[in-house]
Amino acid sequence: MSLKDTAIQDQVKSYYGKRLKRSEDLQSNVSCSKHCTPLSKSARDAMTLIHPEVTERYFGCGLVVPEGLEGCNVLDLGSGSGRDSYILSKLVGPNGHVTGVDMTDELIEVSRKFISYHQEKFSYKEANIEFIQGYIEMLGAAGIQNNKFDVLISNCVICLCPDKKAVFEEAYRVLKEGGEMYFSDMYASETLDEKLKEDSMLWGEGLAGALYWKDLIGLVKECGFSTPYLVTASHIKIHKDELLQKTGVVKYASGTYRFFKLPFDGETRKACVAYRGTVTDHQDELMFDSSHTFQKDKAVEVDGELAMVLKTSRFATHFVIQPTECEAPVNDGIQQYCHLNPFTLADKQGSSTRKCAKT
Ligand SMILES: C[S@@+](CC[C@H](N)C(=O)[O-])C[C@H]1O[C@@H](n2cnc3c(N)ncnc32)[C@H](O)[C@@H]1O
Repeated sequence: MSLKDTAIQDQVKSYYGKRLKRSEDLQSNVSCSKHCTPLSKSARDAMTLIHPEVTERYFGCGLVVPEGLEGCNVLDLGSGSGRDSYILSKLVGPNGHVTGVDMTDELIEVSRKFISYHQEKFSYKEANIEFIQGYIEMLGAAGIQNNKFDVLISNCVICLCPDKKAVFEEAYRVLKEGGEMYFSDMYASETLDEKLKEDSMLWGEGLAGALYWKDLIGLVKECGFSTPYLVTASHIKIHKDELLQKTGVVKYASGTYRFFKLPFDGETRKACVAYRGTVTDHQDELMFDSSHTFQKDKAVEVDGELAMVLKTSRFATHFVIQPTECEAPVNDGIQQYCHLNPFTLADKQGSSTRKCAKT
């Protein structure tokens, strides 16, 4: 990591550790509520059990609660005060485990303070959560081994990291085969001017380091992952005029994407799949992403990559998967990725903004 990258990390650390005390102190927010995607009953129940001091220092920009987490080993990249980590520690159950990694002393301290509190609230014999202080670009230095996790989550963190490739390479290394990265982050409507990257407040708010959304696709594929799937998106509103003047014509959106570590030699053949209705809280249908919702017992054809995702991930037991004869075309043109544009999806979902803001 370059000296400049270290200086950015120090600024971000000070922004979250010293300057921001509560969620409301952020100068940019998602325009829809943070709970715009329907949240499962189990997740809603878990959220009510989280200690208020943890919730008060929540700085995320989306919801990172993927389905089917029972028994999973989960890693939260940039866990902050630990809100999402604690919600997931309830959802994975006593046989699962959650590890949170964060670089900022003050936030790691808050997250660690409430481990026994939540263990009691969740009625667990032993705590199933730990928080490690470290950098997500260097998970090895934080003691995190290869092929260890079923699921990685992250909420509004990668936009704060100067070296995103290092983050995705580490994410790939520590995930098991079939494992999933499911994360919310801020994206820009275009490639950012280098001048924006000089400003410490823009870095702190995630506005200087947000990826142009199309760049995410190439980057994660280069690191070995499947094509990303876009789950949900919202527009981001910047409140401070001073920041708006600096960002100019650039627009920002929050997007939740999911992608998978697939086997190298996996077959990319189309398949006919039928959801069994067995994922907790999703008996009738499973919304996989904004383009695929699987109805219980209804067979549908999926492309080769999605077939492999369903076959090799924790979703395998929840689907009947049968090969079809034809070979799937390889998807490689960037033009084919317009369904992954968070701005377009945020426009579509915008009509429900007012309704979900009350949730
Ligand atoms: C916007 S806050 C989000 C925190 C948490 N995910 C949440 O939703 O409340 C960003 C967090 O990322 C952490 N962070 C930023 N860059 C990091 C890095 N390179 N390594 C580890 N943590 C980092 C910060 O310390 C901060 O806690």
